[in-house]
Amino acid sequence: MTRTVYVNGEYLPETEATVSIFDRGFLMADGVYEVTSVLDGKLIDFEGHAVRLERSLNELDMPAACSKEELLEIHRQLVTRNEIVEGLVYLQITRGSDGDRDFVFPDPETTKPTIVLFTQNKPGLADNPAAKKGAKIISIEDIRWGRRDIKTVQLLYPSMGKMMAKKAGADDAWLIEDGHVTEGTSNNAYFVKNGKIVTRPLSNDILHGITRKAVLRMAEEAQMEIEERLFTIEEAKEADEAFTTSASAFVMPVVEIDGVALGDGTPGPIAKRLREIYLDESLKAAI
Ligand code: PDD
Repeated sequence: MTRTVYVNGEYLPETEATVSIFDRGFLMADGVYEVTSVLDGKLIDFEGHAVRLERSLNELDMPAACSKEELLEIHRQLVTRNEIVEGLVYLQITRGSDGDRDFVFPDPETTKPTIVLFTQNKPGLADNPAAKKGAKIISIEDIRWGRRDIKTVQLLYPSMGKMMAKKAGADDAWLIEDGHVTEGTSNNAYFVKNGKIVTRPLSNDILHGITRKAVLRMAEEAQMEIEERLFTIEEAKEADEAFTTSASAFVMPVVEIDGVALGDGTPGPIAKRLREIYLDESLKAAI
């Protein structure tokens, strides 16, 4: 089946979808994105992603390409047309193309944003074997720019981080700045010690994860103790367990950091419980 994608108002076969070579997303990484998961053919936390998208656009002085209602309709159309039961919807909005290359932003009156959405079919996303095994991570320096709260498409360093992890025989990397963990290459980072969940507080240093927000709320509702503070990789290595959260992997247990096994080296009870609660609750609220 040829995938149907959405580009600037049209649903097209992926082979016929095009964007200008002058698009600022392509030339300058001048664009933002969202990844929304699909379970049971329904969107998980669409509202959260739509609100964060609006914030990212505002922070970059970029016009909205369409309304929230239109966005929801496009997401649903793509899920239906591509028969996605479990998977992801990727959305990208860039500042568009004014037909040339210039550092100065084009006039938004004459240059319209580019909007692209496509689906990724991922059967087994919820029942992911990787979550049963847990992830091995390494730590690397965080050399990204200072506005990580904006979900821009500048993903070169996160990609390099994943490659460094792969080369080291690990699954992913956590990023360290000024001696403290910021987040994972594409997820938020947590450790658990004596039953308490520790994670970095929100600031411009990390992405304000939609899954983070939901998981912390659910952890609180389940009477789990949470502390939002800076933490070092050494603390995480001495933890009872650790995990990450993201829209694409939900709650992913971490079983090893820089070659040091956490606990007995298998996914910890709190991470496993939070994954269960998150999947359960999110499915109930999916639209
Ligand atoms: N990544 N931190 C970073 C740097 C991320 O790229 C992501 C998401 C997160 C988690 O945010 P959320 O819970 O809203 O997915 C944290 C997405 C999944 C991606 O790039 O594919």
